[in-house]
Amino acid sequence: MTGEFSEKVDIEVTVNGEPVEARVPAGRHLVDFLRLDLGLTGAHASCEHGVCGACTLRVDGEAVRGCLMLAAQADGADVWTIEGLTDQGACTDLQRAFVARNALQCGFCTPGMIVAANDLLNRGGIPTRAQIREHLSGNYCRCTGYEAIVDAVESVARARAQDGKGARAGEGAA
Ligand code: FES
Ligand code: FES
Repeated sequence: MTGEFSEKVDIEVTVNGEPVEARVPAGRHLVDFLRLDLGLTGAHASCEHGVCGACTLRVDGEAVRGCLMLAAQADGADVWTIEGLTDQGACTDLQRAFVARNALQCGFCTPGMIVAANDLLNRGGIPTRAQIREHLSGNYCRCTGYEAIVDAVESVARARAQDGKGARAGEGAA
């Protein structure tokens, strides 16, 4: 768990479409707030230094490292975790593709990987494999070959383009 300052801060934040009011330690990181205070454990805290990507969230439409943002900084923000995106069906195709292509083993990196990949695909078009690699270069996986992950993301990009669905449910909200 990341360190905290003891001073408390009141925040109002929207999490997965629901308004949340909370009093949080000023130094509490957003990923810890979500995991420990709200029980949303999909985003993982691993390196806690912005390196591994396991804590990736969607904040005000952007992929964000939950370990580099304070909960206090999220005051007024629109925050989506893998749980909310899953409920919205915003990344169902990616999740299925990861399973179908064996793009996960232990699954620890997978929520962050999916949120980051969804961020790329929501921009529309079909990214090249190099662009997929570049976009996911901040998301580490210690057990699956990256090739399968890139395969999964590429297949979904092509499928979305074919369906004329560059954006999925929840994209507008998330
Ligand atoms: S835990 Fe946030 S980047 Fe590793
Ligand atoms: S599937 Fe284990 S770290 Fe990626």
